[in-house]
Amino acid sequence: MKKRRLFAALTAAAMAVSMTACTSSGDSGGAAGSTGGGGETKDISDIVVGVSVGNTTEERWNREIEMFRQYGEEHGFEMNIQIANNDVNRQISQCENLLNQGVDVLIVQSLDAEAAGPIVQSAHDAGVQVIAYDRFIMNSDLDYYVTFDSFKVGQVEAQFVVDAAPSGNYIWLKGAPEDNNAHLVADGQADVLQPYIDSGDITIVTEQWCTGWDPNEALSHTENGLSLAGNDIQGVIASNDGTAGAAVEALAAQGLAGTVPICGQDADLAACQRIVEGTQTGTVYKPLAPLNQAACELAVAIATGASDPMSEVDSSLGTWQTLNNNTKDVNSFTVDVEAIDASNIYEIICVRDEFHSVEEVYANIPQDQWPTGSDTSGAASSAAA
Ligand code: BGC
Repeated sequence: MKKRRLFAALTAAAMAVSMTACTSSGDSGGAAGSTGGGGETKDISDIVVGVSVGNTTEERWNREIEMFRQYGEEHGFEMNIQIANNDVNRQISQCENLLNQGVDVLIVQSLDAEAAGPIVQSAHDAGVQVIAYDRFIMNSDLDYYVTFDSFKVGQVEAQFVVDAAPSGNYIWLKGAPEDNNAHLVADGQADVLQPYIDSGDITIVTEQWCTGWDPNEALSHTENGLSLAGNDIQGVIASNDGTAGAAVEALAAQGLAGTVPICGQDADLAACQRIVEGTQTGTVYKPLAPLNQAACELAVAIATGASDPMSEVDSSLGTWQTLNNNTKDVNSFTVDVEAIDASNIYEIICVRDEFHSVEEVYANIPQDQWPTGSDTSGAASSAAA
């Protein structure tokens, strides 16, 4: 209710502005937040939000597609979602199509941080603002970015592994080089690892990128690392749960799963299961619901012509800051992440956020070792032990 009233007030303010400020809706050269819209306001039922999703390989993107769909349905507007199936050119042409169909705003989860730049230009030529979703779009006049703190993701990941194995031989699996997040994650990991590397406590046996976050690449890099070190490996730094799963497979083939600490991110179901089974040390939980809600609220505010779209995003979901994409400081909304291991998985993933059910996470653990329904204090550690 409160939101609705605030929106009405903002709409009135935006209408007042539109009578004095005559901005061309085709103007693409403005400062952040000034492109498109033309000062016009629209009823939410008349807007169309275009969403371009690069891939559905990882579990999270499927959940987020569903969240976008539901948000549109529940708020009574059209959410036009296109999925590029890992094909950069298809993503670009799907965005062109969305723009030709007259979307009011474009949300883009890009496959390639650089190649997506022209999407922003085309959108601006059509008077449409672009929100980068989760992944930054580099070297472009991007309007907004809604994301998690990927540097922190990397720090948390590496901390899991060095806490469990402060010395020894490491395999370091980085994410997709074409995804800016992978670089931030790697920087965060390096921030934790470098002192150990400098002191000689940790030796990186192999350090490899996994194009497209491909688990098959992670599998072969891990196999290579294991054979280079004659299986004498004390830690694996993986950058997400998909690649961690592949690395655990390679470890399992050598009888090492569960003895070598390894991390990931996303709290994929399979990773959560590995955590309680003891073959993955931890994951970084990125709460998808607030990220998605923030992107949707921002998109609606832009599409309806709110005078200050950023203020329409529920501030309890995260924080605004600016992040530089090599062209400009982009207004960016960041949602916090959490470290998850066997000690808090039940409390946070199963009970607090109901991200996965206890039945799903503990599916491979004898039921008499499951944490009890009334225990929300992290009893999972005993089940996983
Ligand atoms: C996301 C991760 C995801 C990875 C692969 C990254 O950009 O931030 O959550 O695991 O892409 O899809």
